[in-house]
Amino acid sequence: NAADKGTYPYYMLKEIDEQPAVMRKLVQEYFGDNDVAKIDEKMLKDMAEADHLYIVGAGTSYHAGLVGARIFEKLCGIPTSVHISSEFAYEQPLLSKKPFFIFLSQSGETADSREVLVNVNKHNWPSLTITNVDKSTLSREATYTELLYAGPEIAVASTKAYTAQIAVEAILAQALGVYMGKQAAKDFDVKHQLGLVANGMQSITDSKKKIEEIASRYLSKVPNAFYIGRGMDWSVSLEAALKLKEISYVQAEGFASGELKHGTIALIEDHTPVIAIITQDRTAGLTRSNLEETQARGASAITIVSRHLAQEDDTFILPDVDEVLTPLLSVIPAQLMAYYTSLGKGLDVDKPRNLAKSVTVQ
Ligand code: G6P
Repeated sequence: NAADKGTYPYYMLKEIDEQPAVMRKLVQEYFGDNDVAKIDEKMLKDMAEADHLYIVGAGTSYHAGLVGARIFEKLCGIPTSVHISSEFAYEQPLLSKKPFFIFLSQSGETADSREVLVNVNKHNWPSLTITNVDKSTLSREATYTELLYAGPEIAVASTKAYTAQIAVEAILAQALGVYMGKQAAKDFDVKHQLGLVANGMQSITDSKKKIEEIASRYLSKVPNAFYIGRGMDWSVSLEAALKLKEISYVQAEGFASGELKHGTIALIEDHTPVIAIITQDRTAGLTRSNLEETQARGASAITIVSRHLAQEDDTFILPDVDEVLTPLLSVIPAQLMAYYTSLGKGLDVDKPRNLAKSVTVQ
């Protein structure tokens, strides 16, 4: 039974370990034996005709949207913005003339996100819900729906739904880009890349011992920590910090590394952990120098780096995949560090205080 913990002490660890299988399942469901993803043509047409994509979500789903927006812009050339549903619902920004809405929700039941969808439907704007739960409220009420195929996610802290959301966004963005005739999308073999991602995830989850050691050495006794990065890596930093906050109660912040010097670096003290995510060619050197600036002020530096950008003393080396998919790998050590920090503190990893898996109040 998919909702059984088996030999795992916590669902969260099981769900982290399931991520390679989820990637393979997504490839199977969306591509089967074909090279082109099976996506509703009518939806692709509606999306291609839009002048702006609005991605809406809460919590981890919002963070998956931050990554997805960068992928849609890169592969489809459509301006894409990402919104926290509880903000958008009550302070709706001025919209473009032809909006298309993408709702990200693991449960498909989040009240804040539904509030936005109800309004979207009043205007007859086309929408897509990407969810893990077939026939959930958000999937029934949107114009189109796509599934995450991640299997039941039980741990409150979301892991496999996050990576599944990013993978589905990449599959859709590639299909849409090809539909629109965009060269960047034609050049991006998402099916093959997701296979590489699955293998890469596997190799990271196989190195738990080292991740546990780093967590216990650097994170278990500190009140606060920083994840830093630029671009995609910043987007992942936000999710990485959320994992640490949610289950280990370390006050963690995901920060745009170049912005540290404009104020936040004042918080760095001796032994403050600063974890840099470095996967993007264009910004790797810049993030490294920002990390060095924190080290000069006493920070303990930890790095999560794509292999081709790695240096001798980097902490975690990620297998190389296409630059738009690196979040699928860089988040894994962060998920595991949060897990082991929580475990080491003797906390209930699956049921952190004050949190619910699905929030159906506004
Ligand atoms: C709750 C959960 C989070 C989740 C958020 C959005 O706050 O604790 O893990 O990211 O809801 O949930 P959704 O089901 O809409 O993705």
